[in-house]
Amino acid sequence: MNIIWHDRSKQFHLYNDKISYIIGVTPVGELGNIYFGRRIHDKEDMSYVVNRMGLANVAVDPDTESYSRELNRQEYPSFGTTDFGTQAYEIECENGSRVSSFVYKDHEIFKGKKGLSGLPATYADESEAMTLEVHLKDDLAGMCLTLSYTIFDKYPVITRHAVFANKGAAAVKLTRALSMCLDLPDQDYDLMHFCGAWARERIPDVKRLSPGAVSIESKRGVSSANENPFVIVKRPLTDDRAGEAMGFSFVYSGNFLAKAECDTFGRTRLLMGIHPDRFTWPLDNGESFETPEVVIAWTSEGLNDLSQTYHALYNNNLVRGIGKNTPRPIIINNWEATFMDFDEEKILSIVKKAKEAGVELFVLDDGWFGERNDDTAGLGDWVENRDKLPQGMAGLSSKVNAMGMKFGFWIEPEMVNPNSNLYRRHPEWALSVPGRKASLGRHQLVLDFSRPEVVDYIFEMLEKVISGADVSYIKWDMNRSLTEVFSQGHEAKDQGTIYHRYVMGVYSLYERLRKAFPEILFESCSSGGNRYDAGMLYYAPQAWCSDNTDAMDRIMIQYGTSYGYPISSIGAHVSAVPNQQTGRSVPIKTRADVAYFGTFGYELDLNTLDDGEFEEVKEQIAFMKKYRELLQFGRFYRLRSPFESDQCAWMVVSEDKKKAIFALYCMRSNVNQLPGFLKLQGLDDDTVYVLRGEEYYGDELMNLGVTLTGLSSNILTTGQDYLSYVEVLEAK
Ligand code: DGJ
Repeated sequence: MNIIWHDRSKQFHLYNDKISYIIGVTPVGELGNIYFGRRIHDKEDMSYVVNRMGLANVAVDPDTESYSRELNRQEYPSFGTTDFGTQAYEIECENGSRVSSFVYKDHEIFKGKKGLSGLPATYADESEAMTLEVHLKDDLAGMCLTLSYTIFDKYPVITRHAVFANKGAAAVKLTRALSMCLDLPDQDYDLMHFCGAWARERIPDVKRLSPGAVSIESKRGVSSANENPFVIVKRPLTDDRAGEAMGFSFVYSGNFLAKAECDTFGRTRLLMGIHPDRFTWPLDNGESFETPEVVIAWTSEGLNDLSQTYHALYNNNLVRGIGKNTPRPIIINNWEATFMDFDEEKILSIVKKAKEAGVELFVLDDGWFGERNDDTAGLGDWVENRDKLPQGMAGLSSKVNAMGMKFGFWIEPEMVNPNSNLYRRHPEWALSVPGRKASLGRHQLVLDFSRPEVVDYIFEMLEKVISGADVSYIKWDMNRSLTEVFSQGHEAKDQGTIYHRYVMGVYSLYERLRKAFPEILFESCSSGGNRYDAGMLYYAPQAWCSDNTDAMDRIMIQYGTSYGYPISSIGAHVSAVPNQQTGRSVPIKTRADVAYFGTFGYELDLNTLDDGEFEEVKEQIAFMKKYRELLQFGRFYRLRSPFESDQCAWMVVSEDKKKAIFALYCMRSNVNQLPGFLKLQGLDDDTVYVLRGEEYYGDELMNLGVTLTGLSSNILTTGQDYLSYVEVLEAK
């Protein structure tokens, strides 16, 4: 890895073994893109990429008389001079002008990577990454801009973000501040994004790019289940196994915009950042604004390779603390078993049976506090409900511990029910516009986390409950989108900052709780996967993937999630049948076979199982304990897409390629067809693997494939849906 600066040509080359990212100062002094892709030789001067060929009706820079931004690839473009595409930023000056131009001033190159202030970001030490900070200035606006680029040594990854600083006398307003723009020289691309809704999150969708623009966005205040802040731009023939692609992952949990724009001159512009709608950030003299980070990854070896880059990078350089590269505890959660109708006795009977099965940690879900007997009341009152927990959290946690299990509980700190003591005391702490109705979501309002005093209050309440008990885990939920986003704690001119300040408030509470209780493993949740993003992973290394626990639906949700997020982050549990969301009854084996490829746990009362099923559960837990390191942190390959057939298959391979586990799920049986073969991936060609007592070469399993007839005599011809197979391969 290295970053080279060519002083004469004013060109930067960031490279590692796999990629080159080349940018340079343009003829008008701004920053332009020269190249991004497979590693190429360094060359002193590549200014031949600058196009000076005039086209009719194209505006040019008056000094050069031949350079138009419109016909050249920009690095962080503005609107208002000669670029008519979507701009990366916009500054409104005191006189109302929104035209600006940042020209190169100087730069710094250093080893390692700086943190972002109050924002989540990937981290790296001096041996792992190098950073380039390019300082630019717009003297007329009195503004400085720093564009920051980090290249990782081990990964084909560049991270980017921007910092604006007002050094002038006059106040300005930032009305758009995206984190990155990447202009590419052609348009032969597909855009893959991950969309859905509650209970059907992160379903892949592919669009062919052509002149015009596609926007993937959230304006819900959370990153959302509807669109995920991770997109892939790939060549049309690229699939999981082969081909060129780039990923763009936004390390942020609020409103976002990811835009792909193809102009009419054959270029593609990609942009990502905080959604500019409802965003205005006033900057007085001396003030600055830092955008969140985007992680850009590149591959020429297909989407499995791209995903593996994100999995490894996020496991090693984003996740921190207790969950980092550590197999996760096997959990039992009481939500689907009891909902809010429980008392200590009921809980302890669930815990006792779970302990017998080998479960390691019990999680008390919603309903333990205030007057919380249904979802109309109690949020905001973080004090134990003594009717349900006579000795509070302290009493319950010590009883659970005494039974040999760890203890954790659920919170939803960002919310308040109008029917709560907190709201009665502080109605002005909810986001709402005075004089207007405040929309409800699940009978609740959103607390104004842009106000530090609100965050302080919630921290203190939670700190009391947590420090009184023995707590190893917290599930942090968030169950509605933001509406009527207005803060009664901020002046009129600052109302455009509230969405972002809210997210910063959430991050600050996470950080304070993490610091105060470093032994706690956090799991994020937002009605399932409504806030599943790289920003959250910085604070909570795992996320409840979806409220849809039906194994057949989960196959699709987990498959889609795996494109951008590590398997170790996927909260997945076995729940009861008929499934509460879909009514489907899937065998308990299949339910576990899906949940193994995640954090694994149970979302049911094991007392309700018959003896045969309970014995099966014990075996499942023993299997997970034996293989969880491989399942959660092994190299993950998608083998067969549930969106393209009635089957799904995936596998994990250990780093040394000596162990692997593959899974095949039959979602719908096909009668009277040959079972065929399943081609594995990631094995060592020459190693002999033992599978079900038989020996096979790695190259045999990857090219000829595993015969499915051999796996089961009638896997595809029994007429039975929902069957699954999980098989372990070990090097001989
Ligand atoms: C939504 C979550 O996704 C569920 O798992 C559960 O915790 C409920 N909220 C509790 O209200």
